Amino acid sequence: MMKQARRGAIPPFFVMEVMRAAAERERAGGEVLHLEVGQPATSAPAGVVAAARAALDEQLGYVDALGTPALRAAIARHYRDAYRLDLPAHRVVVTTGSSGGFVLAFLAAFDAGDRVAMVTPGYPCYRNILTALGVVPVEIPVGPETGFQPTPALLDAVGPLDGLVVASPANPTGSMIGRDALRDLARACADRGIRLISDEIYHGITYGEPAVTALEMSDDVIVLNSFSKYFSMTGWRLGWLVVPESLLRSIECLAQNLFISAPSLSQLAACAAFECRAELDGHVARYARNRALLLEELPKAGLDRLAPAEGAFYLYADVSDRTDDSEAWCRRLLAETGVAITPGIDFDPERGRRFVRISFSGATDSIAEAARRLRAWRG
Ligand SMILES: Cc1ncc(COP(=O)(O)O)c(C=O)c1O
Repeated sequence: MMKQARRGAIPPFFVMEVMRAAAERERAGGEVLHLEVGQPATSAPAGVVAAARAALDEQLGYVDALGTPALRAAIARHYRDAYRLDLPAHRVVVTTGSSGGFVLAFLAAFDAGDRVAMVTPGYPCYRNILTALGVVPVEIPVGPETGFQPTPALLDAVGPLDGLVVASPANPTGSMIGRDALRDLARACADRGIRLISDEIYHGITYGEPAVTALEMSDDVIVLNSFSKYFSMTGWRLGWLVVPESLLRSIECLAQNLFISAPSLSQLAACAAFECRAELDGHVARYARNRALLLEELPKAGLDRLAPAEGAFYLYADVSDRTDDSEAWCRRLLAETGVAITPGIDFDPERGRRFVRISFSGATDSIAEAARRLRAWRG
């Protein structure tokens, strides 16, 4: 038997399996209300689509591994406009989605055997990508006591670390880290020599205070962001990193060898995305309406233990009084009502058996209908 690598044996991303079950139901003529998806239901903004159409006639070859100068400059301007931060464009690295950014950031910052922490519940690909790279993921279990976010004391409780990945707003909880807490966390990381990696992919989708970027706290952090969520461009596979000067050359060489460059068509079109605020803010207004609707309706369906959902487009619900097998529960819900939601096991393999994630990124009508069916369902 030929050898098969252990590091490639990582868990599936279960939400993709829910999506497959939902698609099968639709193929068989069944109706599905999609509250499982982790992406906007809308297409890219009109300005981006128009720019892409115009760009189709260009050569569209490889471009610079770090990104086109025009897009890197546009992203740097975005930090000035949205955060009042002066960011030199050369610290911006354009990536193939933030997913491509994770691979570059983790390879540049960590060696095999290093220990990198993240909270559970949390986005599963952090630990799965780290595992595939031979880095040891260290899980920090969190709950409502700390707003589902890490604290310096929790860091100390898990032993020596080389890195910490945080997300604010987070997936699946929607919880956020305020400015003071982020400053404390950044300082605790700096004091202990821990590299802070801040996943800011849900910035722009918030329902109270705007999200704070970790770039405000230190130049040693690595920030990840993406055109996938606020900019409504998941399939365009475009994201970016903001990296410390000291990691820039290493990331450039990694990007050249691993990816050559991020998609040129997407890069040409994405320059227009920053001019499409009105359309994109309209999507956020719809997410806010959907969120308000669910916060009103879910408790009537018995789902009243919800994470704070200060940002992103998810509600993470404790369903421990209904099941201790969220995967089977979600499967039954889909089969009996046509409502697709995600079991918590993706985000927290153990406690997630008693949690589900409900996405409200879709159309308000279908969210309202899903809430009605959840109220009527006796699962
Ligand atoms: C928290 C978080 N980070 C990163 C990603 C990856 O997104 P992309 O590769 O499309 O930028 C996702 C996708 O759902 C996410 O939820």
